[in-house]
Amino acid sequence: MRDYKQMVANAISQAVDGQLSVEDALAKIETPKTLNLGDYAFPAFVLARVLKKAPQLIAQELVEKIDHTGFEKIEAVGPYVNFFLDKKAFSADILADVVAQGGHFGDKASEGGNVPIDMSSPNIAKPMSMGHLRSTVIGNSIAKLLEKTGYTPVKINHLGDWGTQFGKLMCAYKMWGSEEEVKKDPIDSLLRYYVRFHEEDVEHPELDEEARQWFKRLEDGDEEATALWKWFREESLKVFMRVYDRLDITFDSYNGEAFYNDKMDEIVDILEEKGLLHESKGAQIVDLSKYNLNPALIKKTDGATLYITRDLAAALYRKRTYNFVQSLYVVGNEQKNHFNQLKAVLKEMGFEWSDDIHHIPFGLITKDGKKLSTRSGRIVLLEEVLDDAVKLAKEQIEAKNPSLANKDEVAEAVGVGAVVFHDLKNERLNNFDFSLEEVVRFEGETGPYVQYSHARAMSILRKAGKTSFDAKASYTLDDPEAWETLRMLSDFPATVERAVKEYEPSVMAKYAIHLAKAFNRYYAHSRILEDNENLEARLALVYSVAEVLKESLRLLGVKAPDEM
Ligand code: ARG
Repeated sequence: MRDYKQMVANAISQAVDGQLSVEDALAKIETPKTLNLGDYAFPAFVLARVLKKAPQLIAQELVEKIDHTGFEKIEAVGPYVNFFLDKKAFSADILADVVAQGGHFGDKASEGGNVPIDMSSPNIAKPMSMGHLRSTVIGNSIAKLLEKTGYTPVKINHLGDWGTQFGKLMCAYKMWGSEEEVKKDPIDSLLRYYVRFHEEDVEHPELDEEARQWFKRLEDGDEEATALWKWFREESLKVFMRVYDRLDITFDSYNGEAFYNDKMDEIVDILEEKGLLHESKGAQIVDLSKYNLNPALIKKTDGATLYITRDLAAALYRKRTYNFVQSLYVVGNEQKNHFNQLKAVLKEMGFEWSDDIHHIPFGLITKDGKKLSTRSGRIVLLEEVLDDAVKLAKEQIEAKNPSLANKDEVAEAVGVGAVVFHDLKNERLNNFDFSLEEVVRFEGETGPYVQYSHARAMSILRKAGKTSFDAKASYTLDDPEAWETLRMLSDFPATVERAVKEYEPSVMAKYAIHLAKAFNRYYAHSRILEDNENLEARLALVYSVAEVLKESLRLLGVKAPDEM
């Protein structure tokens, strides 16, 4: 559609004979808070100095000079010039676009390049935490937003599948484990062995040595150790997959930390060659004081490599494999320091592309004001949360629409959607307290509310028997009730861009709520189906709302059932 703000800027610049450039005018144009002040406003006082006149006078003169074509009216209010767009032209323009493009409205065709997204990345043999859930759904939404704007996202699950803790786990399993238990409930039983190891090791410190031996065997590729590790990894992944399947999230790679085992020597070699590695109390470190950061610990006294060493290898591998334009890490804010160190070490190594690495941090989910942890009892089990939400959705459907055909499928989409939307509607850096009641609330600013608004639009179309619209027709709507919704629709492409630029799915979620609210107000104030005059145009609006709500939800990783 045409750029109306640009049109306003052109008109202003022309009216003052270029004494204000189009770009400068564009930068000054505001969007009034209420629609009765127009669609765009220009603060005439920015011209006071150049024109040497009072702002009020300038505003009045502008109204006279500006070419009014394409506008419903142009008014001076104090020092402001308020522009009211021509509703008919505007509605024809926006509805033609959405009708023609459907879910592709707002797509950008540019070849943006590859963007690996490190996301989810839970640790083997441990429960997936709420933090991992946040990383998963935020990463997934960012991937979809990037794709829509012409980039190629690569979703990488950097599994925590390596480290000395696996020595402890193997040692514990050999002493107290059973194959049957692990098969039945992998995460639960493996976690229990691990916790028991830490309890017993207080009185039997010799266990530590045994665990070290096991890890050494694993590092050396010993058959039994490798087989056990593989098995723990597979069983854990099976459990994680259950959550991913329900969220309908897939990954392009499951290369976790272990994948980089044979790729770390190169890192250490480069660091040595560049004289960056220093010894400190027997360990190998990189000094980062010039970045105001603590030293990065690359190798421990016993020669074992660390989390950051594996991340250095992973960063280089990703640059070589994907030749990325940006490389993202959706990881909790508590790892901020780690990613600062990672970037700094890469910079020191001479890799200029370290500037393209971005940590996308997010806040903590607390429960009753306290941090959730695996050790204390305050763990919230993801699958239980999903199950509860789906159960509640099912109850709502039974109460409101008992004859719905695919009730279970819809309940799953609504329940899971509620959990995902609840997470994404908060700005990602905000901490929030987890409450199940809050998550499964279906009124107000929630996922189910948006889904319900979409289903309502679809039901209107069903009642009207309309499934397709002519992209060449001119749908004009000038009833004031429709205006807010039309404006919201036209904001969609810019909203997508802002969400990508800020890596902020909440921008998209808030937009979806606003569009749903505007549409519901429209629905309440106009008799969409009852009046024959201009029915087609109203239905084209309903159709456009359905398409854009569905696409907004898709970008958040939430489904939009046609009926609920
Ligand atoms: N497994 C880590 C954790 O649970 C997160 C890994 C994040 N990704 C990375 N490349 N460091 O804390």
